[in-house]
Amino acid sequence: MTDWREWHEQYSDPVSSLSRRLRVVQRRLEDLLASGSIRRILSLCAGDGRDVIPVLARRPREGRPDTVLVELDPILATDAQRRAAEADVPVSVVVGDAGLAQTWTSVLTVDLLMLCGIGNIADEDIFDTVRAAPGLLSPAGVVIWTREAFNRDLRPQIRQSFEDAGFSEIAFDYEPAGYGVGVNCLTSGAPVSTLPERLFSFVRPPTPASGRVVAQPVKPFAPRCSR
Ligand SMILES: C[S@@+](CC[C@H](N)C(=O)[O-])C[C@H]1O[C@@H](n2cnc3c(N)ncnc32)[C@H](O)[C@@H]1O
Repeated sequence: MTDWREWHEQYSDPVSSLSRRLRVVQRRLEDLLASGSIRRILSLCAGDGRDVIPVLARRPREGRPDTVLVELDPILATDAQRRAAEADVPVSVVVGDAGLAQTWTSVLTVDLLMLCGIGNIADEDIFDTVRAAPGLLSPAGVVIWTREAFNRDLRPQIRQSFEDAGFSEIAFDYEPAGYGVGVNCLTSGAPVSTLPERLFSFVRPPTPASGRVVAQPVKPFAPRCSR
């Protein structure tokens, strides 16, 4: 099993692939918050919350969205709580299984769903989660998601699955053999009336991709989303 606390230590190297991915996620979140349409955020498998909390801290206090982080590991959840307290950012940290709908249905719907670092789930769970995502979101809600290339690059299929589920892609940043960060906005599609009881379960980690990782510039981004 992956030791997720040890996994987070990769962030201590500012040039690691994970740190580069983090900066993209934060930048996209910053842009979305600046658009003023995000009032409620749900982050599943949130780790220690470092993607969300520092970005919220930079926002004016009165414009900060209500934010719920769901994390299974109690130590990482405590780290997230500490980080939020130190930044004076009010977030709710739920210690629980983010794959289970009952953990977070009470906070629905949200304007932004964060699915970052959820790579250790079965392929069919990925696509089931994307299909269910509209059911968690307000109209014109947005998903920020990440996926590594791994040894079998599913990023093209995941991007397509968002389109199929009624989302438009408003940004996709990636490194060919490294991370992918997608921002997708709900623009069409039928409402999801019932959510599955379970969206996903964690399984064995996928194999890392081979090949040279080339850093990519992050292009300017003006989120526009309507339904
Ligand atoms: C790859 S890390 C991503 C953390 C964070 N989202 C980030 O990108 O930095 C995956 C996280 O999911 C957590 N996790 C694993 N299974 C989970 C589950 N069933 N429910 C909630 N969190 C889970 C792990 O403890 C870990 O913190």
